[in-house]
Amino acid sequence: MEYNDKLIAAREAVRYIKEGMVIGIGSGSTVNEFLYCLADRIKEEGLQIVGISASKKSERLARKLKIPLTTFASYQNVDISIDGTDEIDEQLHLVKGGGGSLVREKMIDLVADTFIVIASGEKKVRKLGTFPVPVEVVPFGWQATEQRLQQLGCHTKLRLLNGEIFVSDNQNYIIDCEFKKIDDAVTLHASLKQIVGVIETGIFTHMVDKAIIADNGQIYVMKN
Ligand code: A5P
Repeated sequence: MEYNDKLIAAREAVRYIKEGMVIGIGSGSTVNEFLYCLADRIKEEGLQIVGISASKKSERLARKLKIPLTTFASYQNVDISIDGTDEIDEQLHLVKGGGGSLVREKMIDLVADTFIVIASGEKKVRKLGTFPVPVEVVPFGWQATEQRLQQLGCHTKLRLLNGEIFVSDNQNYIIDCEFKKIDDAVTLHASLKQIVGVIETGIFTHMVDKAIIADNGQIYVMKN
């Protein structure tokens, strides 16, 4: 039997949403499932919430589903953030940014009182690094920034979309850095961040409060 694990994780996560909450909305296909579940609760229960969206794509879907949105201009605190991931290890460290929204995701997930990751089972890894680490960089001089990234021992690829350079919601470029195996995610993130031209990395450490992983229809909750 085929299970929709993304939907199963999303359905579990939506149970954590309470009346009056400011909700951080991450991005990606798992978060999209969460938005459908949230819209159902709003419709069925008249639940009052507002969301702050981490990407233009999530924002478009939320609007379509009539989920009320706000911005940091009105609320600087987020009660709960729900976001997907590209990889999660046993310490609940993440590699994120496959969809190119890592900066806004990190800003929202970081300020949330509770940050819940939702994912299907294949995102669980023993060690981070198989998924290349997305690094958002300033477009100016990206070639020089790329060289300095390579000096940290990775293979790099400037992200493209339909043959053109991919431009993030913040008008920056993304360089995907393949390290294969990351032994110390905290140190690697710090080294990457020291490079001038790097805005943010897709390594999220010590941020997750709870991970809801659905694997072949079974729900596993990992906590910090
Ligand atoms: C977006 O930039 C990412 O961080 C997503 O959260 C991540 O890629 C997970 O996406 P899926 O839910 O589509 O696998």
